[in-house]
Amino acid sequence: MTLQPEIDGERLLRRLDAFARIGATPAGGVNRQALSVEDRSARRLLAELALERGFTVFQDGLANLFIRREGSDAALPPLLIGSHLDSQPTGGRFDGALGTLSAFEALEALEDAKAQTRMPVEVVAWTNEEGSRFAPGVMGSMAFAGADTAAWKLIVGSDGASLAEELDATIAALPEAAQRPIGMPISGYIELHIEQGPSLEKERMPIGVVTAVQGTRWLEVCIQGSAGHAGTTGLAYRRDPMVAAVAAMHRLQAAIMPLDADARLTVGRIAAQPGSINAIPQSVIFTVDLRHPQPERLDAIEAEVRQVCRAEAEARNCTAAIARSFDMPGAAFSPDMIDVVEEAVNSLRLPHKRMISGAFHDALFIARVAPAAMIFVPCRDGLSHNEAEYVEPAHAITGARVLLQAAIVAASAKNN
Ligand code: GLV
Ligand code: MN
Ligand code: MN
Repeated sequence: MTLQPEIDGERLLRRLDAFARIGATPAGGVNRQALSVEDRSARRLLAELALERGFTVFQDGLANLFIRREGSDAALPPLLIGSHLDSQPTGGRFDGALGTLSAFEALEALEDAKAQTRMPVEVVAWTNEEGSRFAPGVMGSMAFAGADTAAWKLIVGSDGASLAEELDATIAALPEAAQRPIGMPISGYIELHIEQGPSLEKERMPIGVVTAVQGTRWLEVCIQGSAGHAGTTGLAYRRDPMVAAVAAMHRLQAAIMPLDADARLTVGRIAAQPGSINAIPQSVIFTVDLRHPQPERLDAIEAEVRQVCRAEAEARNCTAAIARSFDMPGAAFSPDMIDVVEEAVNSLRLPHKRMISGAFHDALFIARVAPAAMIFVPCRDGLSHNEAEYVEPAHAITGARVLLQAAIVAASAKNN
């Protein structure tokens, strides 16, 4: 007799706790940045759990980690389910971990029930989704989807580490994982994630069925002025890039989001050179993260950022150089995979709504090579990229149940 595969909620919650201890911060969050020692420990723990259960473990040249359970038809490409294990520097315990560990729980549930899927099912933990230590983010999934990675060899992290060296060390730290090339045919991809925004909680919806991801652009603004003595340089003699940067940021914050409720503009990093308390800076560099669901609005906002930064720099006899460091166009998910997820939600009789993701995700890039979709669960106060990020245990378990149900249907589909 075959049992119905069931999520073991207690096991999932125990695993979430165990992984939250890897890189735990005193304030209750995690600091498990991509390819760090902590990230390697989390990958090792997941690989060891997988090997104990008799699954096969692989990694590719981007250190993407795969855990495979065979299906009845070995000729079929696998269905992938998963997310990421890396975190923001002061990140929460659920961003990425919930999707990765729920996917592993789904694989274990299939194994517990000795359930047979037609397709192989693979859990994936993508490398460097966050992009805060090594920019850009979603590196692992982007490479898997065919991005040209040649220029990445030269990337240096926010802590001065070399991406190439950290990748090599991370891969070498897990010799049990068989090496495979980057990218392969897959049947589909489903990712569970926390919403990272307030709408599901506010509307008391346990599940969001994600239909699309909005676009993101990252800019780096460098305002050059002239270094000078803080005490002796009068106003008329100053070419202060900090004054220009503050004025530009103030104008942009006052204009972009108040006038367009869908727009998002964030300055998350700023550095002054030489960074001395008693010297007018020579230059100020800051990042701008822009989001919008409509590509033409993203173009218009980027143009406005460029114009405002140049104008405010010129007004102080400074210059502004603006580079686009990353462009992540938004994308709609596959209608067929969205239907699979929605049918899973309906079969479990769960209230839900269709929605667009404000955050980017690995699924955005995997959607370019296979039918993909995402499942969202609520998080408290919509808080994420924050150590206080919290998901109700019941919501985490419900998300995993939807993922399992959707994976069973997707991995048994006949149209492949
Ligand atoms: C993902 O981490 C994002 O910034 O959207
Ligand atoms: Mn995430
Ligand atoms: Mn994140």
